[in-house]
Amino acid sequence: MAGIGLSWPSKLTERPTHASAVCRSATRCCASSVKMTVSVDEKKKNFTLKNSEDAFNAAKELMPGGVNSPVRAFKSVGGQPIIFDSVKGSHIRDIDGNDYIDYVGSWGPAIIGHADDEVLAALAETMKKGTSFGAPCLLENTLAEMVISAVPSIEMVRFVNSGTEACMGVLRLARAYTNRQKIIKFEGCYHGHADPFLVKAGSGVATLGLPDSPGVPKAATTDTLTSPYNDIETIKELFNTNKGEIAAVILEPVVGNAGFITPKPEFLSFLREITKENDSLLIFDEVMTGFRLAYGGAQEYFGITPDLTTLGKIIGGGLPVGAYGGRRDIMEMVAPAGPMYQAGTLSGNPLAMTAGIHTLKRLQGSGTYEHLDRVTNQLINGILNVGKKAGHAISGGYISGMFGFFFTDGPVYNFEDAKKSDTAKFAKFYRGMLEEGVYFAPSQFEAGFTSLAHTDQDIQQTIDAAEKVLRQL
Ligand SMILES: Cc1ncc(COP(=O)(O)O)c(C=O)c1O
Repeated sequence: MAGIGLSWPSKLTERPTHASAVCRSATRCCASSVKMTVSVDEKKKNFTLKNSEDAFNAAKELMPGGVNSPVRAFKSVGGQPIIFDSVKGSHIRDIDGNDYIDYVGSWGPAIIGHADDEVLAALAETMKKGTSFGAPCLLENTLAEMVISAVPSIEMVRFVNSGTEACMGVLRLARAYTNRQKIIKFEGCYHGHADPFLVKAGSGVATLGLPDSPGVPKAATTDTLTSPYNDIETIKELFNTNKGEIAAVILEPVVGNAGFITPKPEFLSFLREITKENDSLLIFDEVMTGFRLAYGGAQEYFGITPDLTTLGKIIGGGLPVGAYGGRRDIMEMVAPAGPMYQAGTLSGNPLAMTAGIHTLKRLQGSGTYEHLDRVTNQLINGILNVGKKAGHAISGGYISGMFGFFFTDGPVYNFEDAKKSDTAKFAKFYRGMLEEGVYFAPSQFEAGFTSLAHTDQDIQQTIDAAEKVLRQL
């Protein structure tokens, strides 16, 4: 699967590359990595997580499982989670003073690099005027215009505070618009933790071995139909047996929550056609892929326009945000323009809007997506090469700044295929990489992310570390 995405046309890859612009941004973002003078071996000798362990033991008494989001808990890779102190550029530093090259990027938002100086300066300016108005502000118009002009399907947008909220809102809207109840989602796709979506919901739930969650009423999920990803025949059958009842098909257009899984070339166009034929809506959950695969998201990258789209992560530049948007005739059903109710105290707040605006502005610079493509290509091919050389079954792929690999020969087309990965091996690999100063997501079933701040040096260091660790497994 390596480089599978390269066969797809991307409007952005047709833009002229200005390597200097990429270098400029990468150098600025990576100020902290340039300062690192301690050798990797020296760092490893001093590697301890004592402070993290103490802090986590205290946290467990204060918060369920010691964390505020389950996948942070390291359950599937063993050991305790690391407690972090600061981020800058492509690096993240823990409370024991260990420094890591970071491929989690706060689970996606940090696409221009962590704690970008321009974003921080803009936030400081906005903050002088206050942190929340609970009333409209000009910055909402600015970010809305940017999102609408970037994302092909979005003619109107509603900002919320998280990806979960965005998916809850879009589901209610799809049901209100079509006056139908049933939805189709895909096994391994995650659309936040709202009740109707907690069915075969990928990473976090899978990592914990919970097929569904207690507390979700049966009634909330009886209208959620599921299908394996990339499985055209099951979708045809579901439409046949539920004629006139399906409000929408929702999916991650590239899966990041079951590991990294790409759609087969005909899959998205098939979904576009069958939803149209049945007067159902097609919803792309682009909370992860939006502004990541291309500036206009997966829908620009693949050239398939859904009816509705959810966004999050990148459009908040690291502050809490989400959004849903789509065709004007559908969006005008949302209150107060229409009767479908949805609201939020902090929605569209000036800080999140500011971080989003300045993150998107940086992404508009020339050469940005070329940089993401180049470093991620080097990274994933480097890891696959050293893995194979060391005799491991390993497969993986990438598109732009999103990647993943599995300890199985593949191909991986759906969550069942992904589960064939040797997760015990992944856990050992994971712990080894931590000691080498590389921070991946602590689960086999999560995609990884690069950023404009990742340098060739970061990538080479990561591949060298992977080679060393994989040889020892
Ligand atoms: C595709 C997708 N949808 C929805 C969500 C939920 O977003 P949040 O965690 O902001 O609620 C996520 C989170 O990772 C996601 O990856």
